[in-house]
Amino acid sequence: MNTYTITLLKGDGIGPEIVDQAVKVLDRAAEKFGFGVTYQRALLGGEAIDQTGAPLPEQTVQLCKASDSVLLGAVGGPKWDTLPGDQRPEKGLLGIRAALGLYANLRPATIFKPLKAASPLKDSIIGDRLDIMIVRELTGGIYFGDRGREDQNGVQSAYDTERYSVPEIQRIAHTAFKIAMQRNKRVCSVDKANVLESSRLWRETVTEVARQYPEVQLSYMYVDNCAMQLVRNPGQFDVIVTSNIFGDILSDEASMISGSIGMLASASLSDTNFGLYEPIHGSAPDIAGKGIANPLATILSVSMMLKYSLNQMQAANAIEQAVSKALESARTPDIAVAGLPTVSTAEMGDLVCSLL
Ligand code: IPM
Ligand code: MG
Repeated sequence: MNTYTITLLKGDGIGPEIVDQAVKVLDRAAEKFGFGVTYQRALLGGEAIDQTGAPLPEQTVQLCKASDSVLLGAVGGPKWDTLPGDQRPEKGLLGIRAALGLYANLRPATIFKPLKAASPLKDSIIGDRLDIMIVRELTGGIYFGDRGREDQNGVQSAYDTERYSVPEIQRIAHTAFKIAMQRNKRVCSVDKANVLESSRLWRETVTEVARQYPEVQLSYMYVDNCAMQLVRNPGQFDVIVTSNIFGDILSDEASMISGSIGMLASASLSDTNFGLYEPIHGSAPDIAGKGIANPLATILSVSMMLKYSLNQMQAANAIEQAVSKALESARTPDIAVAGLPTVSTAEMGDLVCSLL
């Protein structure tokens, strides 16, 4: 029997509550599909700052590296908002992405049928189905480029730089094309090549990599146009590949189309398919501890983990189906509707387990 060691980074705010539900579901899946899971806990973000003084303790990096996969809740909260930039909880998140070489961020935006009415877009715009995969470069670009502040004759300025090397673009392009091969074989590369030199290199490099995937249809879009097309005609997209900053922005937009940001999972992968899995929503400090957070994005993150890192496809699909069924019989408050009972975080976790 395969046994996997999973590092849990529960984090801040609602992080612990939602990770607990995802663990419950993973345990149930393990039992049902015949594999084992052991867990180890590590600190990240605000909880790490409180306990060790740093948002990313070295021990956390070591524990993650020594495990088969990592499950993260969420980090951050008002308590730590006044700390200097390099000591904030978010710095821990950026640090763990870099330390583990997680350059490929997969952010699916799909609509579960029972949630169609929750989308702010009209039915006529959503069409039959929405199934977009955003592939975001995660360890380069302006997030990690040269930055600083300068003072010239009493006038302050600050700068951040967007820089991409050809190998960085190549590897994320390969990720996107490989994923497209398992989907509808369409990749849209999003950039700002009409203005930015780094985008022009991005476009040239993606075009070059595309030659190795003759079956995949490649198109290009400027990021401003893409932001507009996502709400005008989201059905046109299959895989979107883009830089760190553009992917950050477009994935929030795409997530809202699906009705609730509380539903969407993500995977951050290295070149060995080692991955960190997390819901794309934040730590929601305003509802933390109340037992009303939606655990489904974290549960779906476990499904992605089983699919992309642990190669347990059956279990992964079963969890997705259980989530879809759960939505037909109960809702957490964020996606509540008349006619269905509103349940707590833990009740939703139990419901998914019972449908597995
Ligand atoms: C995300 C978040 C992070 C990012 C923040 C919390 C640093 O917005 O994962 O999208 O910008 O990457
Ligand atoms: Mg973001």
